[in-house]
Formats: sequence, structure tokens, C-alpha cells
Amino acid sequence: MHFKDAPAYKLLAKHKEFLGDTKILDLFKDNPGRFDEFSREDCGVLFDFSKNLIDRKTLGFLIKMAEQCGLSAQIRDLFDGVKLNFTENRAALHMALRALWSDTIMLSGRNIKSEIQDAADRCASFADKVRSGDFRGATGTRILDVVNIGIGGSFLGPKMAVRALSHLKTPLVNFHFVSNMDAAEIGETLKKCSPESTLFIVSSKTFTTAETMANARDARAWVVAKLGAEAVKHHFAAVSSNAQLAKEFGVDSKLIFSFGDYVGGRYSMWGPIGLPIEIAIGSENFGAFLAGGRAIDEHFKNKPLSENIPVLMALVSVWNNNFLGTEAEVVLPYSSHLEHLPSYLQQLVMESNGKSARRDGSPVPYETSPVIFGEAGTNGQHSFYQLLHQGTRRILSDFIIVARPPGDAGEHGLELAANGIAQGEALMRGTGANVAGREKLSPFKATPGNRPSNTFLIERITPATLGAIIAMFEHKTFVEAMLWEINPFDQFGVELGKKLALDVMDSLKGKNEGHDSSTAALIERVRKVRQSP
Ligand code: F6P
Repeated sequence: MHFKDAPAYKLLAKHKEFLGDTKILDLFKDNPGRFDEFSREDCGVLFDFSKNLIDRKTLGFLIKMAEQCGLSAQIRDLFDGVKLNFTENRAALHMALRALWSDTIMLSGRNIKSEIQDAADRCASFADKVRSGDFRGATGTRILDVVNIGIGGSFLGPKMAVRALSHLKTPLVNFHFVSNMDAAEIGETLKKCSPESTLFIVSSKTFTTAETMANARDARAWVVAKLGAEAVKHHFAAVSSNAQLAKEFGVDSKLIFSFGDYVGGRYSMWGPIGLPIEIAIGSENFGAFLAGGRAIDEHFKNKPLSENIPVLMALVSVWNNNFLGTEAEVVLPYSSHLEHLPSYLQQLVMESNGKSARRDGSPVPYETSPVIFGEAGTNGQHSFYQLLHQGTRRILSDFIIVARPPGDAGEHGLELAANGIAQGEALMRGTGANVAGREKLSPFKATPGNRPSNTFLIERITPATLGAIIAMFEHKTFVEAMLWEINPFDQFGVELGKKLALDVMDSLKGKNEGHDSSTAALIERVRKVRQSP
């Protein structure tokens, strides 16, 4: 059942009318215990959702609605390996990658934990060898540069985590991430590296993605040109579900790290796709990252819905999105170390829940994923926050505050936290222009306030807190999908663009036909420019 069919939906719709013009700030005035009532904490993460237009009744009805939609059973099904990715007839068992070695995880009648542990052990041992210098290139040179070639889920998670945990990174190895088809990216990266001391990790679940394969071929040609064809097996590792294609590419089977098709690309950094993370921070820290994610899995499985942080995150978003008309959710981490978190979450949330067909194939009669964007604070404040404060659109802000960010010097960290906390307060309070007894501000200067936000507070960025935050967002995404009755684990919407790119490529090289006049004219213009010297 989707959320609109749940009896509690009607209660919520009515309650929204009752709340009418209520101001979030007034809810604080009426309830001195509001923060305690509308915040939860576990696994090193404090989730404060009190700065939302939510009162006790709203929360009660939202939880009821989730219960009526059968959420508890759906959570159990997820962990039990039920094929919730029904369009691809697959389970979604990324949690198995971070489960304990001793756990039994059954999929189609077999325990998959041993194959997962096997791959994890091989990754850990390889990562340790690269870090210690035991693994060397074809000429016996130590590896100084690791270049991850991959895109989407084979790129955004590892890049985000390597940056987030860069204070724990080995100083002996530099990390580079090449994803785009643009030759400038691989070209500029290769200029910074020397073939004798570079390891390429070709990361691709399918090992067929056009961008990744084009960049991998360039890298291979560069190695072959400098060190000869024999060197390929000393300088390339592959992470893929398609070991055969990796082998055909020339990767030594000892350096192919596989994972099952029950792990979706954007959920995959906990396993072999996380190899660059493990090389960067070491297997012990990588283990702590997995433990952080695992702690949230336990929380998600076992906590009642009213205490369950990912469930509450989803319900707050659904309330804002589907009842109050929020159009976007902005991710605002107040730490440069978390600067890649917004891009990572864009794929996680929008590729998962940017859907419009329900389980039975009928169109959804409600909004699904909001637009996700973001930027590290305080940079965003000097860019798009103007719209958050005075624009016409309703946006839900997710602040991520780090009490002691890495590299904290002097008062910087304090000022950073002060800014993040103040922005949430400013969005809610506004300038108070219309409060009786105060001088009325000009409409150009007044900010209306009453804009919702969540705040996630962590003490420090550690592998465990990072793992916990990421797993929280994964499960939040799952809960929203369940309420919307959509499949968060496929991504067929991206296929047409890939196919048409091939057609346009043919038109650029051959007959420009079969396109609308705009597409045809653009093709013609590119063709002309590329034909001229
Ligand atoms: O095109 C979208 C997508 O399939 C993502 O879901 C995925 O993360 C990305 O491409 C990369 O895919 P692969 O890991 O197979 O190269």
C-alpha cells in the first residue's frame, strides 16, 4: 500500500489544515521540551528535526501511516534478501558487505557471507600491500599514485569517503578519481603521474560503462607506451561483477575483486568498490567505517519506528515533500572534508527515487524524490542561500555540523559550527518583520522565516560516524521508496540517453538523419567545427 491509501494519510491531510499558518518558532514557545521530543541520537549521530512544522500529532500520524503501509515488514524483507528490486528480479543486500563475518546471510538458499568475506579479505590484503610498498609496479617501483577510473556509484562514494577521511590517509600515496568522458580529465591526471609508480583501479560493476572503458583504454595505452604490454598486469586492478570482461581487458585475475549483483552501484562502496578508501585509510579504519554502517543496520532493523532515525528522516522528508510542497532538499555539510557528500547523495537519492511508476506499473499520483543539491558550508552561504532565505520555493535544509572538524585550528571550527547552527535558526526565525511592536523592515530586506531544516550533529568525522551517516541516508531513501511504492534499486531512466548518444555519434560521423530540427542543427554545428582545422 502506498502512503496515500493509508487511513492515516487523511488524518495528516486534515492536520495540515489545522496547523494552517502555525509558525515553527511558535511550536518552540509552546513546548519547552521540543528539542528533546523531536530529536534522536544513536551511533554518534544526533538527528534534530525539531525545526520543522511538526507537532506531536503530526509525528504520531506519520508513524501510524508508515505502520499502515507495512514498513516494518518491508524492512525485514530487505534484510532477508527478498527480491525487492522486482524489475531486475534481485535482492538489495548491500548491508551484507558490512555485516559481521559470523553472520549468516541467505540468498536463494545459500549463505553469501563467505564469498563476501573472501573478497573483503583479498581487498584488505591488497590494500595493505599497496600501503606498505610490498606491492610494486612492473619496474619494482613503489606505488605513489592510485587512479580510480569509474563513474556514478563506482566513483562518487569512494571519492567522497577518501576526501572525508583524508586526515587519516597515508601520506605516501596520492589519490585521483577519473570519471568523465572528457579526455581532459584522464589527460591531466596522467600528467601528474609516472607510469612506474601508478596503480589504476578500473571500477565498474558492469565493466561496460562507456566513460570508464574509454578512460581505462587511454590509461592502458599510456602504460603500454611507456612500460610495454607486460606491465599492464602490474599496474591495473579491477573491481567488477563481470570478472570475465576485466580479464579480457588484461587485468591479472589476482587483482580482480568481485561482488554480487545483489549490490547496486550507488550502494556499493562498502565492498570492493571501496578499495581506494581502504588503500587510503588502511583496513582497520575501513573496518571501523563498515562497523559504523552496521550499527545503523542494527538500529534500523531493531528500533521501533518512533525511535528509528532513518525512518524519522524519511517521514520528515515525506511530510515536507508530499504535504507541505517542498521542492528540494539541500545538503549543507559544515566541513570541507564533507564537500563531496552532496554529489554522493544526489546519486543515492535521485537515481534511487527519481521514479514515477508504482510497483504495479501505474503512474504515481504524488511527488517522489525531491531535487537534491548542496555545497559545503560556509561556501554555500555566499552563493545560493539567498534563495533559501528569501526565494519563493520551499526547500528543506539538511545541516551537517561537525563539533570538531579535522584540521581545526584556532577558532575556525567554532565559527564554522556557529555559522551552520545560525543558518538553521535564521531560516526558522526570519527577520521578524511582521512581529507587532517592531519596526517593519522593507520587503526587500525582510526574510519570512518559517523555513524547515534538519540538523545532524557529529562530534568528529571518524570512519564510524561517516559510515553511520551514509547508512542512515541509504535507509532513509529505502523508506521513502517503500512509502511511495517505487523500486529504489533500478535506474532504467538513464538508458535512453546512453542509446541516443550512440545514435548521435553515428550522425556526427555519418548521415545526420532521423532527428528533430534542433538536434540535427546542433549535430551539424559540431560536425562543422570539428571538420575545420
Ligand atoms: O548509468 C547509471 C549507472 O548504471 C549507475 O547506476 C552506476 O553507478 C554507473 O552507471 C556506473 O556503472 P558501472 O559501475 O557498471 O560502471
